[in-house]
Amino acid sequence: MNKLAFFSTALVAVLFASCGNNNPAPVTGSDTTVNPATAAAVLPDTAAFHDIVDGQPTALFILKGKGQATAAITNYGARLVSLLVPDKKGVLTDVVLGYDSVGKYIHQPDTYFGAIVGRYGNRIAKAKFKLNGKTYTLATNDGPNHLHGGKKGFDAVVWTGHQLNDHAVELTYQSKDGEEGYPGNLTVKVTYTLTDSNALVVNYYATTDKATVLNITNHSYFNLNGQGSGTINNHTLMINADQYTPVDSTLIPTGKIEPVAGTPLDFRQPMYIGARVNDTANPQIKYGKGYDHNFVLNRAKGDTIIGGGNLAHAVTVQGDHSDIVLNVYTDQPGVQFYGGNFLKGTNPLKAGKRDDYRSAFCLETQRFPDSPNEPSFPTTELKPGETFQSTTIFQFSTK
Ligand code: GAL
Repeated sequence: MNKLAFFSTALVAVLFASCGNNNPAPVTGSDTTVNPATAAAVLPDTAAFHDIVDGQPTALFILKGKGQATAAITNYGARLVSLLVPDKKGVLTDVVLGYDSVGKYIHQPDTYFGAIVGRYGNRIAKAKFKLNGKTYTLATNDGPNHLHGGKKGFDAVVWTGHQLNDHAVELTYQSKDGEEGYPGNLTVKVTYTLTDSNALVVNYYATTDKATVLNITNHSYFNLNGQGSGTINNHTLMINADQYTPVDSTLIPTGKIEPVAGTPLDFRQPMYIGARVNDTANPQIKYGKGYDHNFVLNRAKGDTIIGGGNLAHAVTVQGDHSDIVLNVYTDQPGVQFYGGNFLKGTNPLKAGKRDDYRSAFCLETQRFPDSPNEPSFPTTELKPGETFQSTTIFQFSTK
């Protein structure tokens, strides 16, 4: 059985095994309003993505499988713009935040909606790292630190898009030696494939001509009740992680790997996202302003090889109104669960919606933040002659 067929078959078992609900009661309060979609969501107009940016053409690529799901991807930042999946009543729901034109992605304050972030997604302390004895200095674009590849990361460049067929698009970017301070000419390829069973498969490949560091991921913001429909507090979340990497007040890992047990970061059993999100007596919740942490994913016994398509079940999330379930599988060692703490409701989303505070979550499958400065973390070095290869699957279904 091939990998995807295996996952569709395994899905039902996974859902029943892992999506029971141990929550005491739904979270209530002023920030729990939800306005779920009632009419079917539609894709943005492709014409609004036809432009010339930095001298290169931009476009919107539409992916369809034999299931009901549809995805729209632009080559500006290799971004997932829309992902329509059926809810429990069969109503097509757009589960990712995004804009309805390429111009808005360029001109709105940056949130990395749907983008591929890199060359180094997440943070590098003090924007410096040493590789083979040489110190590299990057942009400080997040307080004292470096975030998501710098001032003009992979989210803000035009990739070359090539639609492979009805359900797959390949995006390529050549990142020059010295770009944003990183060494080596890097070729990055990302393919998005929509399967017949409503899974979005993201494949990553990269090669370099000089030793460099690399951590690329997709930065989609999900709301399983529909983008712009309100809080995610009563989404139910399970993260298959016994441990996480605690951070300091600037969100840089301390270098320790600690158990989630007894902390608000324990999502080993399904739990409402909002149940402990304001437990600021816990310094991690205080520093993150909620959830903004890298979880160390559990892997099956003996399953020690990371990368290269060796997938493990990482996360299950369920929308409280739509009953849409998202299962995430990855070969990466970590996942950043970010709960939309910096969203302010000031960005005009598709269909006249807004990106309200904590109205979306990101699941950034990745190597650990600041790895170039933490020798005990899995390496993020890519050497000439090596091929970085990685897969993450976002599988949708209903309860
Ligand atoms: C996340 C990061 C957050 C925030 C966000 C963008 O990946 O963990 O701290 O920077 O991106 O607003």
